[in-house]
Amino acid sequence: MQEKMQQILDDARRAIEKAASTAELEALRVQLQGKKGSLTQLLRGMGQLSPEERPRMGALINSAREDIARMLETRGAALKKEERARRLREEAVDVTEPRAFAHQGTLHPISLVQAELVDIFTGMGFEVVEGPEVELDTYNFELLNLPKNHPARDAQDSFYIEDNIVLRTHTSPVQARTMLTRKPPIRIVCPGRVYRADELDATHSPVFHQMEGLVVDRDVTMGDLKGTLDAFAQGLFGEGITTRFHPSYFPFTEPSAEVDLTCMACRGKGCRVCKGTGWIEILGCGMVNPRVLSMCGIDPDVYTGFAFGMGLERIAMLKYGISDMRLLYEGDLRFLRQFR
Ligand code: PHE
Repeated sequence: MQEKMQQILDDARRAIEKAASTAELEALRVQLQGKKGSLTQLLRGMGQLSPEERPRMGALINSAREDIARMLETRGAALKKEERARRLREEAVDVTEPRAFAHQGTLHPISLVQAELVDIFTGMGFEVVEGPEVELDTYNFELLNLPKNHPARDAQDSFYIEDNIVLRTHTSPVQARTMLTRKPPIRIVCPGRVYRADELDATHSPVFHQMEGLVVDRDVTMGDLKGTLDAFAQGLFGEGITTRFHPSYFPFTEPSAEVDLTCMACRGKGCRVCKGTGWIEILGCGMVNPRVLSMCGIDPDVYTGFAFGMGLERIAMLKYGISDMRLLYEGDLRFLRQFR
């Protein structure tokens, strides 16, 4: 019986060492310590022993049970530690690993157009300058040669905040501000939001965007203006686009012109977009009025300049074939996602 017990103990030790997981060890524990376990069986067989042998065998079997319990515990603790270490290794997340970020949004078509125009003009040596949207009458009108009774000052066209404070009706006040604070040569573009008391419809909005350009230097001519606008037109709509000037009027430029571009939709052949003319009207411009130069502290006998201004909504609509301006303000995701 003692031999049999030693055998059971050796087998148990080997099996416990061999157990490769806590689950396997648990199954083994049930087998060793359970009611059908070999030691329990052996204990049951004690009845056949002589009364003298019984206490000794009982003590031996008990110590064997304790040995087995200890072995199970030691092996169990080791396996648990191993398993935990493996899990930590396998489930580790490398928080430093670079990943491609999912794009959540898109640039608005106005932003796209503005960025493209800024790119074209900075490429020609222009610098971007911005100014306030809440503007003094002086900069928005006075210094731009818009006399006090000029129709553009009419409260119907402009949002007045106070008697002499207005939401700027164009980006031209940035011209005046720049000429007053800098010496020529000046070569700037001024993108920004402007305000006019217009009803919102397919082609008008009370808030819209413009980009102004201004160049002041010695010997600046209308030829420079035309060359600059030709380069801009080709930069924006590609080769083969030219400009056509026709006379116009702005108080702050003299002479003034409206500029048409070759229709970008039909390349001048005549289509629905250009109403068969082959031309699209796109901006206003002119030579800076000498009165404006001198009001802004620049000697018109030494310097000349040109200026131009355009609406970004109009350009975005032409470039992307958008037929209703309101689409630009409604924030409809189905519309915006097309500019991804
Ligand atoms: N400020 C004019 C407008 O808002 C545009 C313009 C700018 C015209 C510069 C000539 C020169 O209509």
